[in-house]
Amino acid sequence: MVRSSGIWPPYFGNQKRFAPYVMELLHGIGMTPGNSLYETNAGSHAIAYEARLNQYQTHTNDIGVYSQAIGYCLYGDLSEYMMSKAFLGAALLEQYGYDLKGAVPTGVSPMRLSHWRRIFMSFRQQSAQPWSITQGNLWDFIKHQEGDALYVDFAWPWRDGRSTEEYTSSADTLTKLLTGEDVELTMPSGRQILQEVIQLLDIARKRFTWTILSNQSACFPTPEVLEPYLLACGHQWQIARRLSVPAEDVDNRGLTTEFTEYQYVFPKL
Ligand SMILES: C[S@@+](CC[C@H](N)C(=O)[O-])C[C@H]1O[C@@H](n2cnc3c(N)ncnc32)[C@H](O)[C@@H]1O
Repeated sequence: MVRSSGIWPPYFGNQKRFAPYVMELLHGIGMTPGNSLYETNAGSHAIAYEARLNQYQTHTNDIGVYSQAIGYCLYGDLSEYMMSKAFLGAALLEQYGYDLKGAVPTGVSPMRLSHWRRIFMSFRQQSAQPWSITQGNLWDFIKHQEGDALYVDFAWPWRDGRSTEEYTSSADTLTKLLTGEDVELTMPSGRQILQEVIQLLDIARKRFTWTILSNQSACFPTPEVLEPYLLACGHQWQIARRLSVPAEDVDNRGLTTEFTEYQYVFPKL
């Protein structure tokens, strides 16, 4: 059984509780209503949802169909097509957790489906700001966008360098359950992620006024590894900040009592 924060849709690694902290950061770097926040690896859309409440334009992307469906429901399209993927995805995760291999869509409780339908219906967004949602690879997304700020919370590997199976499951197994499409995705390992971070900064810092990198204490690389690597590769951040909160079972799996969110802000090159 997966826990969600309050009535937020279940999503592994969702940043709902850090969303006000991110809004404070956007305000601090001079973002004002109408500015554009781009977010890839948007997951549960917790950050983008808060950004829309704060009257930013939002343009989001994730590789998972469930993420895309959540986004459409949260701030735009309440079509039956998107709704059904969002509430079925939520009910499947709730019932089967993130090991979805044996999950059966028809085995989901009709009561829980109605519950999630009601929750998704309650998230109507009133903002008139433009928005877009794409489903796909982050590289295709960032190469075609330019704007005020890009926020990226990678599918970071675990602290010991293992890739995060939970995201493989929520991206590919859940996509197969929701659409019937066969997709094979692997999440980056510790070895790959450092290269991906540099590749992302090399591209994004030419296209966005601000690039914001978010990572977490349960994940690799820790700041002691990440920071010298960034500097050695020519990426000096302008702001680095961190916020510690009590850990939830879902994000640190009983490893420590605290969970820390790290953010690095890079200006345009
Ligand atoms: C740490 S989670 C993001 C959580 C998000 N910040 C939230 O608050 O819900 C990482 C996300 O990266 C997505 N992802 C993994 N590989 C990707 C890729 N190659 N391109 C785009 N998204 C990817 C996963 O589907 C997952 O939603």
